[in-house]
Order: sequence, then structure tokens, then C-alpha cells
Amino acid sequence: MSQRKDDHIAFALEQQVKNNDFDRFRFVHTSIPSTSLDSIDLRTTLGPFTLNVPFFINAMTGGSNQSFEINEKLAQLAKACDLAMATGSVSIALKDPSLSDAFTILSKVNPEGLRIANVGAGSRSDKLNQAVDLVNAHACQIHLNALQELIMPEGDKNFSSWWNDLEDCVLHSKVPIIVKEVGFGMSPHTILKLESLGVKMIDVSGQGGTDFAWIENQRRSHSLDFFNGWGHSTLESLLSVKGRTHVDLIASGGIRGALDIAKALASGAKAVGLSSYFLKLVTNHSLQEAITQVEQLKNELKMILCALDAHDIESLTKVDFILDADLDHRITKLKETF
Ligand SMILES: Cc1cc2nc3c(=O)[nH]c(=O)nc-3n(C[C@H](O)[C@H](O)[C@H](O)COP(=O)(O)O)c2cc1C
Repeated sequence: MSQRKDDHIAFALEQQVKNNDFDRFRFVHTSIPSTSLDSIDLRTTLGPFTLNVPFFINAMTGGSNQSFEINEKLAQLAKACDLAMATGSVSIALKDPSLSDAFTILSKVNPEGLRIANVGAGSRSDKLNQAVDLVNAHACQIHLNALQELIMPEGDKNFSSWWNDLEDCVLHSKVPIIVKEVGFGMSPHTILKLESLGVKMIDVSGQGGTDFAWIENQRRSHSLDFFNGWGHSTLESLLSVKGRTHVDLIASGGIRGALDIAKALASGAKAVGLSSYFLKLVTNHSLQEAITQVEQLKNELKMILCALDAHDIESLTKVDFILDADLDHRITKLKETF
């Protein structure tokens, strides 16, 4: 199983994202902003948490030697830059406790940081709570990866208990939960049904970045190429429910830099998760270089807010933007489905 994690890391590092739906979104320019760069406030609230920085290190690794080294460096980065951080799926360490180090390293390196554990859909609350204990986590993500499981040769193929298991987690989790996709996005139907189940935080994790269909296809002898690129983009998912839900939405999937973060926040996300970006950052750079780049990312985000006359994240959700006709059409059609 730890071999699978190392495969995922290797193929994710190989994948390049050039264009995605964030390129079909343009902000409307303001010629006379009334703000100053120094006064821009990047704090955001997510469920019961206040984040000083509205982007975070999203779920990736754990459970192999390589994962330990990556998580250690990511946790050091999280500490230095005041970022929340999610682990990869903890299930592997619950099955084999000798693999726990890659998860416990988060609280060892960064005891003050906001930590988010991660388990797969189909987990009952007892397993989720064990994962939370192991990571000493403040929240727990439950990932929905049905498409990945279907393509993964060794994957689960029975999803019939998932709604019931999710309900059990909503009722009995000891920490707030976040239900998340893994890069295929969520339809309004999924988001609003999760809301009616009592879920308060959802990471739509849309198409446009890491493509787990492509990754799993690299691990198969008979490729199911028709699944590559499957799903809804992050912007389709966010904008098809903007103003229609009280859930705190998180954006992830295909975030390449400060401008994409700003676009995701303007589309209604309360926080933005980046996976592949941070994986590449800590793999290709020293810790010091990575810290410098994240500090630059924060500054760039502040500059974008200032240019848009948005003094904080809440006011960013009110700025005007224009979508390309094709994206606009897809969002309209998606809205009509639920
Ligand atoms: C190497 C790798 C491993 C991942 N493992 C997990 C995981 O264990 N649990 C999970 O919820 N998501 C996992 N993801 C998915 C990410 O959290 C995220 O949803 C997806 O990669 C899209 O974001 P991105 O385009 O910024 O990479 C993984 C992503 C990568 C790149």
C-alpha cells in the first residue's frame, strides 16, 4: 500500500497543468481603489476555525519513507508560514501502526498548527476518531474517491454504504468534518445533499489540476483513458452553488498561484487547498526557498485584493468578474440539474 502512495507521488510530480477553467475567469478592473496594501487582511473563517492565511496544504501523503520526509518538510513549511495542513489518508497507519510516523510528525514539528486528518469514504466514525487521535487533529477530511477506486486495479468497487457511513461520521465524529473530493469536483446535487445530511464544510476539489484518473491509468495494464479529465472543474462546482448553500466551501483542484486563489475565494470559497503545488515546491526546493515562495504568494494575494478594492476575504466575494461564454453556459446547465 505504501508503494501505491509512492506511485501517486511520482505520477503527480510528472503531471503538468497548463490551462484550466481559472483561465476562463477575469476580474473586472477598478481604477480607483480605496484601500492600501498594508491594510489588506487575509484572515478567513472556516467552520469554527480562523485561518490567518486563506490557503492551506491539502491532503497528500503519509505511510511510506518518502511520505515521512515530504510530510516533515511540509509541516516545517506550515509552521514557518502559518498554514493549516491536512495529511493524506490515515487508513494505512491504522492498519499498520509501524507506518504512523509520517502522520505523527505533523504535531511533533508544528504543535501549534491547525492539523486536519484524512480518511476515505466508507469509514465509520470509530475509524475516523482513531485517525483524529493519531494525528492529534483539529478536524478530519473524509475523501470521496469513487472514480479513483473504480480505475485503481486494487480499488474498492462497492460504494453502497457510503451515505450511511457519512451520516455516522457526521453524528459521532469528535472533531468537525470536511467532506472532500479528490480532483473530480462536486455537482450541486452532491453538495446540497451533503448539506442536508448535516455536513458543514465541503472541499469541492475539482477537475483542472491533479487528475487521479490519469494517475491510476498509468498504474493499469489496460488503460481506461475515457475517464481522464472526468468531472466538474473547481469553478463549475463553486459557482453552481454560490448563494445557494450555507455550507462553508473549500476550493481545491488546479490552483496554480495567487490569482487562482483569489478567483476561488471570489467564487465563494472560504479557504483554498493546494496539493500538487506544495508537493512540487518541497520536492524541488530547499525549505528556505519554499518559505520565501509562500511568503511571496501571500504578498501577491494581498496585491490582487488591493487592486480589486477588497480589503478582506469577505469583500473579495463581492467583486465583479466575467466568465467566458463556455464556462458560463456549463455553470448555468449545472445549476439546472438541481
Ligand atoms: C500525491 C497525492 C496524493 C493524494 N492523496 C490524497 C489522500 O490521501 N486523500 C485525499 O483526500 N486526497 C488526496 N489527494 C488529492 C488532493 O487532496 C486534491 O484533492 C487533488 O490533488 C487536487 O488538488 P491539486 O490540483 O492542487 O493537486 C492527493 C493528491 C496528490 C497529488
